[in-house]
Parts: sequence; structure tokens; C-alpha cells
Amino acid sequence: MNIKQILTEKTQAAFVALGLPADTNAAVAISTKAAFGDYQINGAMAAAKIMKTNPRQLAEQLISHLKLDDMAEKVEIAGPGFINVTLAKTWLAAQLQTAANDPRLGVNINANPQTIVVDYSAPNLAKEMHVGHLRSTIIGDAVVRSLEFWGDTVIRQNHMGDWGTQFGMLIAHLEDKLDANTDLAQVALADLEDFYREAKKRFDNEEGFADKSRDYVVKLQSGDAHCQKLWQLFIDTSIKHSRDVYAALNVTLTDADIKPESAYNGMLQNIVDDLKTQQLAVADQGAEVVFLQELADKEGNPSPFIVQKTGGGFLYATTDLAACQYRSHDLAADRVIIFTDARQSLHFKQVELVARKAGYLRAETAYQHCPFGTMMGEDGKPFKTRTGGTVKLADLLEEAVVRAQTVVAEKATELSADEVAEIARKVGIGAVKFADLSKNRTSDYIFSWDAMLSFEGATAPYLQYAYTRVRSILRKAEIDDSFTAPLSLVEEQEKQLAVKLLRFEETLQQVIKEAQPNLLCNYLYELASLYMTFYEACAILKPGIDPALRDSRLMLSILSSRMLKQGLSLLGIEVMERM
Ligand code: ARG
Repeated sequence: MNIKQILTEKTQAAFVALGLPADTNAAVAISTKAAFGDYQINGAMAAAKIMKTNPRQLAEQLISHLKLDDMAEKVEIAGPGFINVTLAKTWLAAQLQTAANDPRLGVNINANPQTIVVDYSAPNLAKEMHVGHLRSTIIGDAVVRSLEFWGDTVIRQNHMGDWGTQFGMLIAHLEDKLDANTDLAQVALADLEDFYREAKKRFDNEEGFADKSRDYVVKLQSGDAHCQKLWQLFIDTSIKHSRDVYAALNVTLTDADIKPESAYNGMLQNIVDDLKTQQLAVADQGAEVVFLQELADKEGNPSPFIVQKTGGGFLYATTDLAACQYRSHDLAADRVIIFTDARQSLHFKQVELVARKAGYLRAETAYQHCPFGTMMGEDGKPFKTRTGGTVKLADLLEEAVVRAQTVVAEKATELSADEVAEIARKVGIGAVKFADLSKNRTSDYIFSWDAMLSFEGATAPYLQYAYTRVRSILRKAEIDDSFTAPLSLVEEQEKQLAVKLLRFEETLQQVIKEAQPNLLCNYLYELASLYMTFYEACAILKPGIDPALRDSRLMLSILSSRMLKQGLSLLGIEVMERM
């Protein structure tokens, strides 16, 4: 069910009747004010220009050909030629009735599914996952869930960083630890952050260690068994950390989605050779470089994109070219979406340009780098620990649950300690996720515990609480989701709620197109707020209420709770029956 689309199609049919092309822009939009009805058809103005007629007149003609049947209760022309459409309550009620009988709540499924590669999370395995990877992980996962719900085929690609020069240093350090004591290796890796720091200290200060580290990188990259074994041990441990974080965060990534940098190793020499053959890469001071005139600076100097270092080493950039080849050709992706912070924007512009020229990205594959802003502390500076260190994701999530515990315990009266603990987990994790997902992806945002754990405003606790409120009404009425009754919309608050319920698909489309889960967050917040308004204005279980009215309102309640749950599940946020 997509009202906007139905109105668009009907308007276009009317355009055709007027002799205009079928793809004339109908420009259907949600009305900004209640006085303008529910939707506006704004296409008459532009069409009048094409036809060289008066826009108001054209709007009138358009209306006379517009077959809205029982859909609208009022169609009016406003201003220079806007057409305001007020939907009919009976039509809305009938649509909701259909939605109620559908496990997808009336949301259509994509008739032309695409194969979409989504590259997200992608931590660097040399260190423990930190908050910088939080945004990529949860935004990416929300988009993945939305795409899958819409019906696209998603191939998750966790492009983990497991192949940089730091690994020489790390395995050299690990080797010494292992020599000292086999078990100790496990203990030493228990804290990757400490382990990295120790190794780095030795690299900077210890005689011979840096040379050994460099030697080990070369050995590792050329397939030396001993170095490979050490590296594997390290990687396995680091992946286990990520796995724990994914579980805590309720994201859908599994080991099968890991396609790390090292997986492209075997392709890199060919890529560079091929770029040279195609005369895209040229030797420059011992390195192989593609110069991009398209991204030239103000002085006209082309932007350099290094694909092989002096000495023969490959880079992050080379790996990303190989990834383009693999995703576009082998996986046959129609679209590739990559989530990283905004500092990598130039890198991905360069990758795309080179990959298109070289043929690694087919013309049929859309390539979309989706940047995001930085998570800031309440002091307005990038989020850090009190002492200025990087905040580990695992610690952050643990703190979220502890803080949620206090908030939930204050509210809960009749719940056991176990129930409170389980609710606190959902609220704490949900709060962190929603706070992040609800912000415009591209802006920086301030991480604030108090704001995200509040029961007021657009927060996970508010939405989860709204959900439990509806559920408690259904419990009081002694019904569940299988309850059915005829729906009718009487009051304005019922109608507003109904229109919102029927707008889910429109929102989903936008989320998918822009890779912007904040639009879904807004939708859910507005839905919950409209439910609360409806609940306050319209009695449901009041003694003496007309049973037909009560049942219809119970239907609205069931639909609202199902929609909240469905929407939150696309964000990877869990609900609970009581709180
Ligand atoms: N590992 C990188 C980082 O932490 C992100 C990788 C993103 N994906 C890619 N294909 N480069 O910044």
C-alpha cells in the first residue's frame, strides 16, 4: 500500500487523457498543513508550462479526469494550481482492514528485486572495535534489514581490515608471548588494545624489533607458514571480539559475511598490471599511481591515487579496486553501498572513478559511498574516555545496559529482577542504537546518555514504552493479534493515525533510496505520538462504550503495535510486552 504511488499513477493517467506524456511528473507530496488535506498533487503547474496554458485551468481539467473514486472525500484547487486531496475515512478504513489481514501489514514486496552488496561494520582487526565502528555497524544493519524486508537480495560484506603493516609488529610480539607460555597467548590477546600498545612500544623503542616486524609483514604477505599461523591466531581472536559485539548489538552480521582485505590479496598484482596495461597507472617516484584529472585541485593538479607503493606493497586502495571487480562482476551486484565515516569520501570517489575507467565496475552497478559524521562527546569534541582514550564498543554497551537498569527499575513495579534485567538490556542497547540512527546520517552528533535514555522525545525508551502501553490495553481487553473486527474511522485522531499507518511503505522506499534510517526513526516516533493522541482523545475500554466502536479502536491499537514492532525490528531494536 503506497498512497503516494496510487495518486501518482492516477494523476499520470489523467495527464494522458489531457494529451500529456505518461511520465509527466505528478509531483505528489504529503500535505504540510491539515488545511491542505492529506496529499497535494503539484504537477499541474509544470504541466501547464509545457502545454502553455493557465495552471489553474489545467488543474481543473486534471481534476475532471482524475478518477479517485471512493479514495477521496474532497479534492480542491488552491493557489496557482495545487490540488489538495483529502482522503475518505471509509476508504482508509478499508485499506487498514486489508493491512490487518496481511503479515506484512499491507506493505508491498519489491516486484523487481535487485542484488545489493552492503559493505558495513568493517573493523580493523589490529585493534578492538571502538565507537567509530558503531555507526557503520548499526546504520548498515538497519539499511540491510530494510532492503531485505522490501524484497531485495542483500549480500553483506564485512570488509575487515586484517592486512596492514601493523600485523607484522603484532605477530612478532605474539610470537614472543607464545614462546614464553602457550596459555599466555590467550591471556595476552584478551585485551587487544593493551596488546597493540605493548607491540607498538616495542616497535618504537626496542632494538631490532621494527626490522623483524617489517620482515614478518613481507613473509606473511608471501605466504610463509609460520607467520600465517601466528597471524591466523591473532585474527581469530580479534574476530571473536567483533562477534561478541555484534551479538550484544543485535546486528545480523555473521562469520559468513566476512570478506576481509586479505581475501583480495591474490588479485592485487593483476589489478596493478592491468591498470598499467590500460595506461591508467603510471610509474611515479617508484610507485604506481593513477592521476585523476576529474578530481584536480584548484591549480589543476590531478588527484593522485596510489595503487602500489615503492617497494611493491599494495594498499587499502588496491584492495578496494579488487573489491569492485569482485562485487560488480562475480557477485553481479546491481548496487554497492558502503558505510564509512566521511573522512573516506575522497578515497571512494577515487575508487569509483578508477574502477569505472578500468571496467572493474560495470555500468549497470550503482556505487554508493554513504558517509556519516562523527560521534561527539557532550563537550563537543570527538567521543573519548575521561582520560582521552578511545572508547571500546564493548564497554560502551555494557554501560548502556547498567544505566538502563536504573531507569527501568524506577518505572517497573510488578516485575521480577530477571525481567528487569532483560528489559534493561533491550532498552539500553535500543537507546544507543536509536540515538544514533535517528540523527541525519551525514551530520556529527552529540552522544548523551541522559537524552537517549529519556522516556520523552524521540528515543528508544519512548517507543518501547509506547509499545508496552498498547500491549497492556490489549491484555486488558483480553485479546491478541488474532482479534478481528470491522474498522471504522470516526474521530479526526483516528483518521490521522490511520493515514500514518498507511504511510509505512512510502517511508521504507525513502530509507532504501537514501540509505537514511533516520527517516524510519521519525516515522516511528510520529506514529507512536499519534497513537498517544488518539488514545487520549478516544475512549477504548470505557464502560458503556458502543462495542463496535471499541472493537474498531482495538483494531487500530493492534495495527499500531504491530507496525511499531515491525519498524523497530528493521532498526534492530527489540520490544517487550511490559515494562
Ligand atoms: N576498515 C575500514 C575502516 O575501519 C573500513 C572499510 C570499509 N570498506 C571498504 N571497502 N573500504 O576504516
